Amino acid sequence: MCGIVGYIGHREAYPIILKGLKRLEYRGYDSAGIALFDGSDIKLSKTKGKVDDLQNRLEREIPTKGTLGIGHTRWATHGVPNDINSHPHYSNSGNLVIIHNGIIENYESLKKELIKRGYTFKSDTDTEVLVNLIEDVKKNEDIKLGKAVQIALNQVVGAYAIAVFDKNKPNEIVVARLGSPLAIGIGENEFFIASDASPFIEYTKNAIYLEDEEMAVVRLEKGVKIRKIKDDSLVDPYVQELKLNLEQIEKGGYDHFMLKEIYEQPNAILDTFRGRMLPNEGIIKMAGVEDNMKTFLNANRIIVVACGTSWHAGLVSEYIFEDLARIPVEVEYASEFRYRNPVITDKDVVIAISQSGETADTLAAIKLAKSRGAFVFGVCNVVGSSIARETDAGAYTHAGPEIGVASTKAFTTQITVLTLIALRLARAKGTISSSEFRQHMIELELIPEKVKKSLESDDYVKSISEIYKNAGNFLYLGRGYNFPVALEGALKLKEISYIHAEGYPAAEMKHGPIALIDENMPIVVIATKKGHYEKVVSNIQEIKSRKGKIIGIVTEGDQQVKALADHVIEVPETIESLTPLLTTIPLQLLSYHIALMLGKNVDQPRNLAKAVTVE
Ligand code: M6R
Repeated sequence: MCGIVGYIGHREAYPIILKGLKRLEYRGYDSAGIALFDGSDIKLSKTKGKVDDLQNRLEREIPTKGTLGIGHTRWATHGVPNDINSHPHYSNSGNLVIIHNGIIENYESLKKELIKRGYTFKSDTDTEVLVNLIEDVKKNEDIKLGKAVQIALNQVVGAYAIAVFDKNKPNEIVVARLGSPLAIGIGENEFFIASDASPFIEYTKNAIYLEDEEMAVVRLEKGVKIRKIKDDSLVDPYVQELKLNLEQIEKGGYDHFMLKEIYEQPNAILDTFRGRMLPNEGIIKMAGVEDNMKTFLNANRIIVVACGTSWHAGLVSEYIFEDLARIPVEVEYASEFRYRNPVITDKDVVIAISQSGETADTLAAIKLAKSRGAFVFGVCNVVGSSIARETDAGAYTHAGPEIGVASTKAFTTQITVLTLIALRLARAKGTISSSEFRQHMIELELIPEKVKKSLESDDYVKSISEIYKNAGNFLYLGRGYNFPVALEGALKLKEISYIHAEGYPAAEMKHGPIALIDENMPIVVIATKKGHYEKVVSNIQEIKSRKGKIIGIVTEGDQQVKALADHVIEVPETIESLTPLLTTIPLQLLSYHIALMLGKNVDQPRNLAKAVTVE
């Protein structure tokens, strides 16, 4: 899981690649490197650390001249993050240089063969094996780089997005993909290579997304020639016009992407239901659902597969689908599902949820479900992502790019899409009346304004964060629709502040976690008026009698919890099924402020990456 960038054209490559790598740091940031062709040779600089560390080092180490280059920001898989294992990697002759995102699974056996033939290796990476394999094929068969890449990749087992060039042929870059994304930006006699379009969006809106098992020779003057890696057949390039703009990608005046994305939620939710929901006409229309209505209505059950925050959105959907559409739902961690030999039939509908659309376990779960005859529906944010393409049908969340590693707007927009689907199916099945259906739509339409209102608690949440920032543990409790929100609140806190936090169904507290409660334990309790309110109030009393510190998330105007809790954060009232869209907001802000006060890197927490494209 890494970010790759390349450039060939008439401009200086270095600033383009450097800026591109900064935009791709969400994909990995434990080391980085750039290789530039200076007109006669390849100049390469790489380092453990972030792209800023690379910039400091590179500008002292090598000239930054050249109109051809490739760069990489890494999230280590094979070989610890250090200078030597950083990409790019040279071949033994020094003629070829490569960057790679993915894993070559059979690299050890390939390496042994290459060592027998006299090759030596500096790094522990699978990537250095690949570049030498390409060199070996090229040398033995005396063929062009593109052909050598193709032959080498046919010997490889694993996943890759690669870019490679030859210093003796500095008018071309060869790229290929299998399982990791790769886009080619098309300019006026200049070309950009990247893991997504963000590195080249200000230069061109025209892009080709390579499909799995495709490779391309990107040549100055001649353009892009795409082939199937396996059978060598030529593919007609499909050039897409990108809708993404740079402002959407950059921080827009906020200190961090995470904060920007938290504040973007009113619009993101609006964008997600806009055009799909027409409350006045009593209509919800989503092409992916309409086209497959029979399959949905005949389904014995829905199986949701996802990871992390997306799995939490899946848990919320379990309540929504069962409540509204009366369809049984099972929510599975994709990583467990795929290895469990699950019972799946062609009467099952699988819903795969993923912000990035690139999560390896979710992708594998989809493939498994499809191979057993299930219909698979995707809920993704990234347009054209692998999951979006692998599923039978789907609905995008339209949240815009989410760069902060901690998912925020992805969660609320996923819940929005899943609510729309559940409502549509409920109406088609007749499990809710037309007035209930209309009422839900009217309430959903009010949510963006209510999210805005919930964001007004920001300063107060900040003051609470100041009080509890040094706590060693946190508990998050919720019931019903807000149990998954408790899990999500705990995940947000631990992933960016590194404070241990656990989420529980409030009633489960008595079965163990209550032993943890003392005067040092902050406990966030979601206690909105709709949904088991009295029961949650009893749970709060149990906490209070054990001296736990209570932070209540309550409905505006609540008095009962206010009388018991140490602090209450109010959110506007809504119907029960929509409360997660509001109660999650203060929990996102709480984790953000605590992490910031502790001096943590909010957007790029340690050990994590935005898209987990390895198992
Ligand atoms: O892109 P996906 O939604 O498939 O990603 C799934 C998880 O990796 C992701 O939600 C992760 O848990 C986030 N860092 C949580 O904030």
